[in-house]
Amino acid sequence: MRSNPIYQDLIEQTFDFPQREFTIENNSLQFNNLPLMEIIEKYGSPLRITYLPKIGQQIQKARRLFNAAIANNDYKGNYVYCYCTKSNHFSFIVEEALKSKVNIETSSAFDFNLITKLEEKKKLTKDITIVCNGFKTQSYMDNITKAINSGYKNVIPVLDNLDELEKYGKTEEPINIGMRIAAEEEPKYEFYTSRLGIRPNEIVPFYKDKIENNPNFKLKMLHFFIDTGIKDVNYYWTEFHKSLKIYCELKKICPELNCLNLGGGMPIKQSLAFDFDYEYMINEIVTQIKTTCQQQGVEEPDIFTEFGSYTVGESGCVIFSVLGQKKQNDRETWYMLDGSLMNNLPDIWGLSQRFIMLPVNLWNNEYTQVNLGGITCDVGDYYNSDAHINQVYLPNIKEGERLHIGFFNTGAYQDTLSGYGGIKHCLLPSPPHVLIDEKKKGELTYKVFADEQTAESMLSILGY
Ligand SMILES: Cc1ncc(COP(=O)(O)O)c(C=O)c1O
Repeated sequence: MRSNPIYQDLIEQTFDFPQREFTIENNSLQFNNLPLMEIIEKYGSPLRITYLPKIGQQIQKARRLFNAAIANNDYKGNYVYCYCTKSNHFSFIVEEALKSKVNIETSSAFDFNLITKLEEKKKLTKDITIVCNGFKTQSYMDNITKAINSGYKNVIPVLDNLDELEKYGKTEEPINIGMRIAAEEEPKYEFYTSRLGIRPNEIVPFYKDKIENNPNFKLKMLHFFIDTGIKDVNYYWTEFHKSLKIYCELKKICPELNCLNLGGGMPIKQSLAFDFDYEYMINEIVTQIKTTCQQQGVEEPDIFTEFGSYTVGESGCVIFSVLGQKKQNDRETWYMLDGSLMNNLPDIWGLSQRFIMLPVNLWNNEYTQVNLGGITCDVGDYYNSDAHINQVYLPNIKEGERLHIGFFNTGAYQDTLSGYGGIKHCLLPSPPHVLIDEKKKGELTYKVFADEQTAESMLSILGY
């Protein structure tokens, strides 16, 4: 019997552990079976890692669950998976998602430059469905019409406001459009209704007034997106049913309407205690659409989703090492990291986002409560509470040992928000980025996508 509990005991007593993605081998953590210690020894720290196979696995899982729900419910429509590019625009991510034949959701003008590049590289064809969201600049709308006129057959701009319709250029065929319903926000926000989309009570009158007899447009899609995500809570279902009611009302007067877009917001694992039941939730969504459509006597729509975090979040992690310890008073011990949380994982600082944070090594050391300090001078550059508890525990570090820690499932939004490769707080460089693939089971391949950012690259942005 051990006298003092070790870190592994703490985790095993707190969670159902090991888990599919997190296992322990030789006292060290493996993430999706990746030997993290070996990777750190080879590529150093801090380090960004992308495990590419996870992307295809996530897409297949959602498709399998939606298609099963469609079959169980004898649902007449189809399921269409779109990848929301803004969650991670990197070529290796979008190209990996495209291998699973996803469609694309765009959010700005440059997305079309990205699509053109992918077409030149033969990663996609003009048959792909492109759902265009957001409050659009003229250049975004011009790129949309340009794509349609160049032969993209399935481009669906989703109207975000009532003025947008008149700003599209001429196309040979009528443009298939969508309309986004502005959702009521959750009470925690400082405003009642989302600034994105059109007020629910304006949707049907606008259709009758501006679209019904307009030869240039066909309304194909109704879109809603609940910002706080797809969750089995009253708030979600209330907003969901409001949108469904509008869909049925519109469908009765607009026969070409046949797509309902649920947006993004499928949750991902941000704590070892995560137990979201994807199968139940997806089946419930399909059942509720089917039941409401039957009650209203309208055909069931094709169901579109635009999952961003869900597609890419769980493929990424960021590794840091502890450079030193500081005890600042009797109760507060800091583990000082070799990189910045604020720079590399801005959601931690900006949204108080929690990720799965675990030590990579020293799992059989005793543990202690610590604060993690980023290496910038900013007071906000810290992490001191996990998702399940308002504290952080990590292994003690003995003389001569070096502790490495990882933030996991960080593959969505962090690079774009932190301005990857740009100028950074305290001139700290973007860390190197390693891509890991597994073409055959157990055979990992490694590719350095980017080395650590150089001083010259940063100084040239700064005009030196
Ligand atoms: C219109 C729209 N669709 C999809 C998404 C993707 O959301 P998530 O990453 O939560 O799946 C967003 C994110 O902001 C969005 O605004």
